[in-house]
Amino acid sequence: MYKIQPKTLFVGKNIVYLPSCHSTNDFASELIQNQQVFEGTIVITSDQTAGRGQRGNSWESQANQNITLSLVLKPSFLAAQKQFKLNIAISLGIHHFLNAFGLENLRIKWPNDIYVGDKKMGGVLIENSLAGSRISHSIIGIGLNINQSVFSNPSATSLKIATQNQENFNLETLVERLSESIEKYYLQLKTLDFQKQHAAYLDILFRFNQSHYFKKNDELFLGKIVDVSEQGLLIMEVNNNLQAFDLKEISYII
Ligand code: BTN
Repeated sequence: MYKIQPKTLFVGKNIVYLPSCHSTNDFASELIQNQQVFEGTIVITSDQTAGRGQRGNSWESQANQNITLSLVLKPSFLAAQKQFKLNIAISLGIHHFLNAFGLENLRIKWPNDIYVGDKKMGGVLIENSLAGSRISHSIIGIGLNINQSVFSNPSATSLKIATQNQENFNLETLVERLSESIEKYYLQLKTLDFQKQHAAYLDILFRFNQSHYFKKNDELFLGKIVDVSEQGLLIMEVNNNLQAFDLKEISYII
């Protein structure tokens, strides 16, 4: 299973397939601790039983329907304080991959949720390990809802629902295309042309430059997203002042 042949230099060339697994991020982390893992290795499962999301949330995914994988990268060219550049490159790679399906209003919700309209199609959990002031390796956990057609969470969607496809998508083919797309943006990141990727990220950012309500400490406020800082903080214009927020501080009202 998962015999994929992506047209890449290294991403997806080595696949660790697990029919079932608690969390591919955790499995990848254990693998790295116990053996030499090639850059570009993908740990992938058909049935993730204890998937983890951002902010300590869980990630639910019906068995055999979706993509749940972790990609191991070694971005030692990135200084620790530039970690968010990797989030940007990965977001661009996933967005480019999904864009091929002609989805309307496909956006990245800061920092790296995949949204179609007001519904979430996927999420990314990046866990970096540092060696001194550099990133030694990074585990990029990606959950993309593909063929699942029923969700307990009304704000979730899948590629099948959003494209109104009657047939199921072939997950192996999709993982090939996804690997190619991520590698393309990762190689671009390696050229250290951060400005280009930063601008491209803002271009596809959910609710960029629009006034919307957000919540902080149970209080609603009106804010306009105007940028994302070097450290990955969300920069908003609130009452004509610029304010920076981290992920734990605020939530979107959707
Ligand atoms: C989020 O939106 O909160 C991030 C979700 C990330 C889920 C993926 S599924 C594969 C990988 N393994 C995990 O345990 N989590 C990530």
